[in-house]
Amino acid sequence: MTHTPTDFNDRMLSLGLARVAEQAAIASADLIGRGDEKAADQAAVNAMREQLNLLDINGVVVIGEGERDEAPMLYIGEEVGTGDGPGVDIALDPLEGTTLTAKDMPNALTVIAMGPRGSMLHAPDVYMDKLAIGPGYPDGVVTLDMGPAERVQALAKAKGCDTRGITVCILERPRHTEIIDAVRETGAAIRLITDGDVAGVMHCAEPEITGIDMYMGSGGAPEGVLAAAALKCMGGQMFGRLLFRNDDERGRAAKAGITDLDRIYTRDEMVTDHVIFAATGVTNGSILPGIKREIGWLTTETILMRSKTGSVRRMVYRNPSL
Ligand code: FBP
Repeated sequence: MTHTPTDFNDRMLSLGLARVAEQAAIASADLIGRGDEKAADQAAVNAMREQLNLLDINGVVVIGEGERDEAPMLYIGEEVGTGDGPGVDIALDPLEGTTLTAKDMPNALTVIAMGPRGSMLHAPDVYMDKLAIGPGYPDGVVTLDMGPAERVQALAKAKGCDTRGITVCILERPRHTEIIDAVRETGAAIRLITDGDVAGVMHCAEPEITGIDMYMGSGGAPEGVLAAAALKCMGGQMFGRLLFRNDDERGRAAKAGITDLDRIYTRDEMVTDHVIFAATGVTNGSILPGIKREIGWLTTETILMRSKTGSVRRMVYRNPSL
């Protein structure tokens, strides 16, 4: 098959995307466990931006570090790449789990997804109510309109087990007390995480490895789109509904062109076309091992996926460290 330079040639672009994720992780390596979230994030942002600008793409950041007036780098709308190449949308989180990194806790990742222009929901920086399950279940077996207990019961039935055979991943937050109580009442187990719901959702796609069957609860909407991109590659269902706490947040939605504020988005409505997704482990986790530091060497592992083919690559990169 021949490609013109303006095609979204996901096969060729994917290796470049893996490098971007790798370099962001390597940049944050020295800041793992140092108690400084901001410095860790900044190091990852700088490296991700520098690497993105080496790619032959005409890229626009649609999910980034924030609005232009809040984030000087990788802000929403920033143009990245050499400008020579296909027009692409980019969703990124240079360090997903800044606190996890600062405290050397599990599952901090660098995350980036790329798709053709217009392929990803321009989610404003508000919360999103999220629900995700892994592959192999009938469409809509669980929905956001169901209560937490009903979701557990429906999933247990579809899995062919008792509700005690279901494990749900939830962000540990006071706002989730009711959900946690309702899930506990069903007898299901709960894996509480302190941060990092992109990894939380991704866990659902590999339940045999992670032990997680379902993710639910609210977290960042930008992270919701990144998680939808990951599940589009790995398989699994995801639903998201934006949550607004005030007029400022509703204004952010309007600015992003969102008019139906109550809409429930499916995975394929958040990510409407084929995408590539790369994530590198920063701290050890169930999806990816963290950066390994040995004298003179840094080793990273990156998961690189293409939704078009369903291919999942795990790439180990050993790099001399200074
Ligand atoms: P950061 O890495 O930007 O700190 O985000 C971590 C995170 O846990 C996300 O994974 C999640 O979506 C969001 O924060 C939850 O927000 P909050 O901490 O306000 O509950």
